[in-house]
Amino acid sequence: MNDEQLQQIQQVYCVENWSAGYFEVDARGCLLTRPAPGDPRYVNLKELVDELTLKRKVAPPILVRFPQLLTSQLRKLADAYQHAIAEFQYGGQHFPVFPMKVNPRREVVEEFLRDSVRCRVGVECGSKPELYAALAQDQAVDTLMICNGFKDETFIRLACLGTQAGKRVVVVLEKLNELRMVLKEYRRTGVCPLIGLRAKLYSRGSGKWASSGGEAAKFGLTTSEILQCVRLLQEEKLDGQLKLLHLHIGSQITDIKRVKNAMREAARVYAKLRQVGANIEFLDIGGGLGVDYDGSHTRTESSMNYTVQEFANDVVFIIRSICDDEHVPHPNIVTESGRMMTAYHSVFITNIRDEIETFADEQLSVQVDVDDPQVISELKDLCDGVNGKNYVEYYHDALELKDSLHTQFNMGLISLEDRAKGELLFWETCARALRESEEEGFPSDEFEQLKKVLAAKYLCNFSLFRSAPDSWAIRQLFPIVPIHRLDEPLKDFATFVDVTCDSDGKISHFVDLKDDRETLNMPAWRDGEPYYLAIFLVGAYQEVMGSFHNLFGLPNEAQVVIGDNGSYQITKLVPGSRISDMLSFARYDQAMLVEAFRRKLAVQVEQGKLTAELASKLAGEYDRAAAGSTYLE
Ligand SMILES: Cc1ncc(COP(=O)(O)O)c(C=O)c1O
Repeated sequence: MNDEQLQQIQQVYCVENWSAGYFEVDARGCLLTRPAPGDPRYVNLKELVDELTLKRKVAPPILVRFPQLLTSQLRKLADAYQHAIAEFQYGGQHFPVFPMKVNPRREVVEEFLRDSVRCRVGVECGSKPELYAALAQDQAVDTLMICNGFKDETFIRLACLGTQAGKRVVVVLEKLNELRMVLKEYRRTGVCPLIGLRAKLYSRGSGKWASSGGEAAKFGLTTSEILQCVRLLQEEKLDGQLKLLHLHIGSQITDIKRVKNAMREAARVYAKLRQVGANIEFLDIGGGLGVDYDGSHTRTESSMNYTVQEFANDVVFIIRSICDDEHVPHPNIVTESGRMMTAYHSVFITNIRDEIETFADEQLSVQVDVDDPQVISELKDLCDGVNGKNYVEYYHDALELKDSLHTQFNMGLISLEDRAKGELLFWETCARALRESEEEGFPSDEFEQLKKVLAAKYLCNFSLFRSAPDSWAIRQLFPIVPIHRLDEPLKDFATFVDVTCDSDGKISHFVDLKDDRETLNMPAWRDGEPYYLAIFLVGAYQEVMGSFHNLFGLPNEAQVVIGDNGSYQITKLVPGSRISDMLSFARYDQAMLVEAFRRKLAVQVEQGKLTAELASKLAGEYDRAAAGSTYLE
């Protein structure tokens, strides 16, 4: 590709802006993934997908997991805090914990904990299953296991089991009642985990999750409840167990100003608690560190206006300043940044299966005769005459003629054939006008709208609700790029629909540095040829929040380690859900279904409509179909 083409690719897909150095387009027009920014190693995604599909017979949709990107992001976070701690001569240390809710898959959790000695990384659990899984993991002795979320006695009991197994478990109290359960368990067993207090801050985050913070937040203790907890623990002589103050003002904080405000408030609460005798050692600032999904580096909801280093600097500097001001020791800083650590590591690959026909796709084969109604011949003149100078005017005229066409049809003045002819000529005029507008560049709003209407609609083999649910639920933007053929002209403009029977199952918003755009420019799709698209940055929340809408199941999954000179190793393949898996999910018993289907065939045999031999063959076919993929094959 020449420089001009590369520049065009960058303009359309903004890869340099959102990729954080992990993804790039090479000179052959293919997408590469690197294990860390600046690392010379890479994998060509198209070559990888070819191996998966052709040699390993793993069909799309495929979730490709790159564990090296998890480690790289963890190190980026740890390095940012190390740097800030050194720069501001901060007295405490950084303890990152991985919040399991963000991606509880075993491969992800275990990959982080492998780095637990070097980066002091622990885990955060928000439910009994998460805690249960975490308790059996290997993690360095001084790392933390933070228990957030609403708890019952079993949850507290599991936390105590962890304490007894030598883990540094911190039960973060969300409600006063949870302290009563902890004390009850202590009186019964003599075991008390470390205690944390989650503060309901006045400060709020920004973006979609702003309501996680502030006075009306769902979680956390009010100031008077915090003081009550401290008193209760002192009375029970368990105040030595109170080690942590926790806050979380929401995920994907878009504006750094909100972080600074929250840190000021949290550091003050910490300092005042120290001054009333609570020997808290850890200030847990929760999650919220954003991911720049659209690469715009702005306060918009799919972006953030700060860097990881700026975030860490502000946190460390503000906590240090307030602690010095209040003459209390600098606490260790715990971070629960899940999105930032996991978003990059998985890439979702789907393929275009087909094109959904629109008006604009119909081939123009209109024969206009002398005795056709005037509206038709006028539309034909417009269609033939559109050029670079008159396209706006001709487009406006065509709109008027289309109205006239429909009015005349409704009045019974023209036939169905005339209407069909007129519509074809109208859409062809629009398409020609749009081509002129695109060639001129800087299209006006009305041509942007027209582009949306005329865009190709490609049917992609995936379920949005399963694999990128936030795109539907909260209109989160995810970068989408073809993984090959980017050296070809970007002739098509398109939107995408998934295979669910839900009209919301579509992607019609794409990343853009200034705005979000409603169509994606891409190399032309050719029927019968493979065409792969990747949805990037889906490693946080998407896997776990995805649903089984229409009983489309988990996609196939490949874990890939990137080696030298474009080499890679597929270290794990996990087959996606079979039809039978989804039947079980919906509580059907497959054997009973097969039996019931057999009975239906038997009735046909009794009525002489099927032979016994054919019925038996059909029953076998029905039985075997359950082993197939839920996606299009
Ligand atoms: C208590 C708590 N900690 C950490 C997180 C992770 O946040 P993020 O993924 O934004 O880093 C969340 C998610 O909302 C949370 O509720």
